Amino acid sequence: MTGPVAATAADASALAAIHAGAFPQGWGAADIAALLLSPGCCARWVPGQAFILVRAVLDEAEIITLATVPARRRQGLAQALVGQAGALCLAQGVTVLHLEVAAGNVPAQALYAGLGFVRVGRRPGYYADGSDAWLLRLNLCAAADVHLPG
Ligand SMILES: CC(C)(COP(=O)(O)OP(=O)(O)OC[C@H]1O[C@@H](n2cnc3c(N)ncnc32)[C@H](O)[C@@H]1OP(=O)(O)O)[C@@H](O)C(=O)NCCC(=O)NCCS
Repeated sequence: MTGPVAATAADASALAAIHAGAFPQGWGAADIAALLLSPGCCARWVPGQAFILVRAVLDEAEIITLATVPARRRQGLAQALVGQAGALCLAQGVTVLHLEVAAGNVPAQALYAGLGFVRVGRRPGYYADGSDAWLLRLNLCAAADVHLPG
C-alpha cells in the first residue's frame, strides 16, 4: 500500500467522490475545498481510496470526516490515516483528538475503539436521520506508543 499523503483544495473533487461513496449524503467539492482552506484544517489521503479531514484549534483537534471507498475497506487504510493524522497533530502540539460517530456505525466504532478512543458523551438525535452520536476522545500523548500505527 502507498502510504497516506497530504491532500489540498485542488483534490476536493476526488475527495468528494470518496465521501459520496461512503456516506448517504456526500459533501460537495466546493464545501470540502472551503473546509480545507479554513484555519487549522488539513487532510491526508490515499488517492482515490480513502481520506481523513482534521481540524486543529490550539491543543485539541477534531476528526471532521473519515472515509474509505467500499472496495478498499478492511485493508488498514482508515487505521493508517487516523494514525498518521494523530502523529501529525501530536507533532504540532495537539494532545487530544475528538470526534462524533453515529451510535449505529459499528465499523467506525470498532476502528476507533481499536485505536484507543474512549466514549465521553452521547448527543441524542445529533444526525439528520434522528440517530444519536457518541462523542469519542483520544489522548494522543498516552496513545502514541500504544495504539497509533506508525
Ligand atoms: C469506518 C471506515 C472509515 C473504516 O475504514 P477501513 O479502511 O475499512 O478501516 P480499516 O481497514 O483501517 O479497519 C481497521 C479496524 O477497524 C475495525 N473495522 C473496520 N471495519 C469494520 C467492520 N466493517 N466491522 C467490524 N470492524 C471493523 C477492525 O478492527 C479493523 O481491523 P481488522 O480489519 O484487522 O479487523 C469505513 O468503513 C467507511 O468509510 N465507512 C463509511 C464512512 C464512515 O462511517 N466514516 C466514519 C465516520 S465517524
